[in-house]
Amino acid sequence: MATTFEPSSKNISVQHTDCFIDGQWLPAQSGKTFATINPATEEVIAQVAEGDAADIDLAAQAARRAFDTGPWRTMDARDRGRLLYQLADRIESEIDDLAALETLDNGKPISESRTGDLPFVIDVLRYYAGYADKIHGSTIPIRGRNFCYTRREPVGVAGQIIPWNFPMLMTAWKWGPALAAGCTIVMKPAEQTPLTCLRMAQLAHEVGFPPGVINVVPGFGPTAGAAVVKHPSIDKVAFTGEHITAQTITRDSAATLKRLTFELGGKSPNVVFADADLDAAARGAYVGLYLNQGQCCCAGSRLFVEESIHDRFVEKLRELTENRRVGDPFALDTEQGPQVDQKQFDKIMSYIDQGKAAGATCVTGGERVGDCGYFIQPTIFDNVTDDMPIATDEIFGPVLSVLTFSDAQQMIERANNTFYGLAAAVWTRDISRAHDFAARVRAGTVWVNCYDMFDAAAPFGGFKMSGYGRELGEEGLKAYTESKTVTIAL
Ligand code: NAI
Ligand code: MG
Repeated sequence: MATTFEPSSKNISVQHTDCFIDGQWLPAQSGKTFATINPATEEVIAQVAEGDAADIDLAAQAARRAFDTGPWRTMDARDRGRLLYQLADRIESEIDDLAALETLDNGKPISESRTGDLPFVIDVLRYYAGYADKIHGSTIPIRGRNFCYTRREPVGVAGQIIPWNFPMLMTAWKWGPALAAGCTIVMKPAEQTPLTCLRMAQLAHEVGFPPGVINVVPGFGPTAGAAVVKHPSIDKVAFTGEHITAQTITRDSAATLKRLTFELGGKSPNVVFADADLDAAARGAYVGLYLNQGQCCCAGSRLFVEESIHDRFVEKLRELTENRRVGDPFALDTEQGPQVDQKQFDKIMSYIDQGKAAGATCVTGGERVGDCGYFIQPTIFDNVTDDMPIATDEIFGPVLSVLTFSDAQQMIERANNTFYGLAAAVWTRDISRAHDFAARVRAGTVWVNCYDMFDAAAPFGGFKMSGYGRELGEEGLKAYTESKTVTIAL
């Protein structure tokens, strides 16, 4: 059996590092660049254009022109959809290279980028491709001799700001509905992982998206990101990332009253009742937390285990966790790669220290792996209490906090006792208990006897400080439209 993936990380060609504006590759106006790092080796992969307000202005003007007067405006909806299908096909034909580039820039195991992220990217683009010609309003029986109808129109120029944990997938979640709806795009990828988004811009160009429809400007949040948020020619901002950034974006967008959708963090409760299929639940808890090095907004990072099965369950989890293969993300059997960067590595190690200091029991893990790259052992803390920082804060790393419950009523109150509300899961064979939990937990997504069950058609987003609006599904599409009411006197 082959043990590493071809092309090996050394042969991956980084083709695009400039800003993609109005169908052209341009260096940053300032001439500045920044390094993107391979998190497995800490080596520089490439220097990337450091866009700022000047480049965002060019991109916003191009997107505005493409929306107001370009061919995008007059193109038949079905032809817009066809371009999205073609982009999906093109990505599929280059799936191995794109997965390798994603793994190089982000550190996620090639097994995941190749069989998880990329297939989902393609699926989301196809899902929204099929929607392009099915967006319509309604006719409304108002009083009097009038004919009243609504039109669903694109919201205009969409500013899109994404994080580094699923770079291509977040690009697809943002581009799919925006393009299907007829919007044009100014995107700022995360500074840690700009490469696959830039590559996608080139593929979109090659399949025939007109100049200005998709613009990508790499750069940092307070400069390039803030310029997207403040630009008067941009109508909407879709953001995924930290809630504190979303608060800044809310303030910065006030002057232009942009439409906002936010997909933010979480501290999602994953609840295991004693009557559950414990092997499936242990597997679900393991995947639900460690997937993507724990760098998931919906990570099941608060594991509530019913007291009567606590010891047995933690033992199962310990076994799974100790067998997790951490290492070279290009090795085919690697299950966990490095964290994305030094900043995330330091943050996670600091939470591990806080967990130890607070008196939680470190069942396994708790240390760095090796001395090069941002690798951290998958870590379980037991005997965690609700007020410990490892139980309240989003760690965004491979650190699981186990909490125990005996009273179901109290457990729901504890599960809801967080300002987050992104996801939740429950494991039980009791159907009433499952529905009761699903109804009472304050979260945008609830999984029953499964975890991380995503689909392009199923809306995803948060209650409370986990966000506004939903992505994916029909709701995700509507977030890129405005409703217009037309009344005709007869
Ligand atoms: P972040 O929210 O600062 O960054 C996400 C994106 O926003 C990046 O593209 C960044 O350049 C941009 N950005 C930053 N400041 C901005 C501003 N003032 N205006 C406009 N755009 C701005 O998240 P960061 O710093 O990468 O990670 C910090 C923590 O946030 C993580 O440890 C994790 O807890 C959480 N996070 C949650 C994510 C999620 O999927 N919900 C994804 C990434 C991070
Ligand atoms: Mg930040």
